Amino acid sequence: MHDRVSGRPSTHAALAFYDDQQPPAGDFLADVLDGFSRTPKQLTPVYFYDAKGSAIFDEITALPEYYVTRTELGILDQIGSELAALAGPGAVVIEPGSGSSVKIRKLLDALSVPAAYVGLDISGEHLESACQEIAADYPNLQVGAICADFTEGLDLKHLTLESGRRIIFFPGSTIGNFEPEGARALLSGFRKAMRPGDAVLIGADRVKDADRLVAAYDDKAGVTARFNLNLIDRINDELGGTIDASALRHKAIWNAEKARIEMHLIAIRDLHFTVSGHEFQLREGESIHTENSHKFTPESFTSLAKSVGFDVLQTWSDPADLFTLHWLEPAAKA
Ligand code: TRP
Repeated sequence: MHDRVSGRPSTHAALAFYDDQQPPAGDFLADVLDGFSRTPKQLTPVYFYDAKGSAIFDEITALPEYYVTRTELGILDQIGSELAALAGPGAVVIEPGSGSSVKIRKLLDALSVPAAYVGLDISGEHLESACQEIAADYPNLQVGAICADFTEGLDLKHLTLESGRRIIFFPGSTIGNFEPEGARALLSGFRKAMRPGDAVLIGADRVKDADRLVAAYDDKAGVTARFNLNLIDRINDELGGTIDASALRHKAIWNAEKARIEMHLIAIRDLHFTVSGHEFQLREGESIHTENSHKFTPESFTSLAKSVGFDVLQTWSDPADLFTLHWLEPAAKA
């Protein structure tokens, strides 16, 4: 068997195709040096998810304070028949950043006979195993994989996909981890790959009281703190860093003006350290800003969607209005 797209002998036996779009590997060192040269210091969250970070994130999703994952799963459980009706038979489900295996299964199970599933991820190894598991469990589904950076748009034109309507599934409020401009660029990239009748099913966490939000990102058991500090371990282990992680404290802050939770690492004393020979210092109380998680109101999400050419056809929330799933379609041309 050969890869449909690459033509090389396939090592992806269970997959209908494996499309390697060769996303450039991130330059961890350059990104860390750049972020540490800024005021305030910052790190880019893409480096959270190594094997250890991904395992800690799985722990986060089970925390009592972290309502996000279980609330979204609960909504998905409730709306299966509505999703099936909206999607129609033969849908092609595309998942940028595939990794939420429980959620995608709920969606595939809810739809009445989906035709295809296409996982898309920047990490080829992770992508391949995730897609192969889906292929094994859904023998009647065409399963393909695209190794690409979904923040650069979706390039689907050269693929031979089943002809049903395409549904881009983007759960987890991952959209909130982008700055407003990046979120618009991302959705606009999705929009450009869509035809009339295609849809985006996207989850977004909602603005709510600050205590509840802060607790979700600063849990009692300290799991989110470990998640945040894992970035420092990676810098020390992989880039020859000399940062004393025990002198950094995890802190989650609700920034009301920007409607976002910010994760920081705050120095509890003056710190001097090097990364690959480059010297840096942190003053006591100074922070390294590691992540943002923007929260939405129904109005703010609708205006984001509309600004890049989508109509919001349907929304579903949990009874406590913690989280919302949205069904977006390309706006009908005026
Ligand atoms: N997108 C999710 C959120 O913002 C998941 C996530 C990203 C997260 N980074 C995190 C959760 C850090 C906890 C801590 O909630």
